[in-house]
Amino acid sequence: MNYDDEEPQPLVTIVFLANDGKTIEVPAGSNLLRMSLRKQGGIPFKCGGGICGTCRCLLEEGAENTAAPTKKERNHISDEHLALGYRLACQTTLTGPLKVSWVPLEQRKKLPSGQPDHSTMGPRLLAKEGSS
Ligand code: FES
Repeated sequence: MNYDDEEPQPLVTIVFLANDGKTIEVPAGSNLLRMSLRKQGGIPFKCGGGICGTCRCLLEEGAENTAAPTKKERNHISDEHLALGYRLACQTTLTGPLKVSWVPLEQRKKLPSGQPDHSTMGPRLLAKEGSS
């Protein structure tokens, strides 16, 4: 969706479910991670450029209100998980309201190196898969 720079952009709501439901309003067309940083939403991050996978999150509502996944997201997230609503916040542009959750870094499984495994599934995804 393109917005004319001279037109005021409509405001959309982001609910950070993993941050006690903190709710903010941002202009449509915003980047999800950038808005999280600006308004203390709490989404974990490291590179900010689609490389590390740290900002992996789950759009629990409003996944349809985002631009298509980028190539960098497709490198990190399977088609199946994209369809379930998993995205990289640093690569996600929102066009409408959404609700987002994530697995805190300290709860992610560890790789043999001891670093968090950002590709591991979160509890909400496991619950969704178990209920089908
Ligand atoms: S912060 Fe590294 S991929 Fe998004």
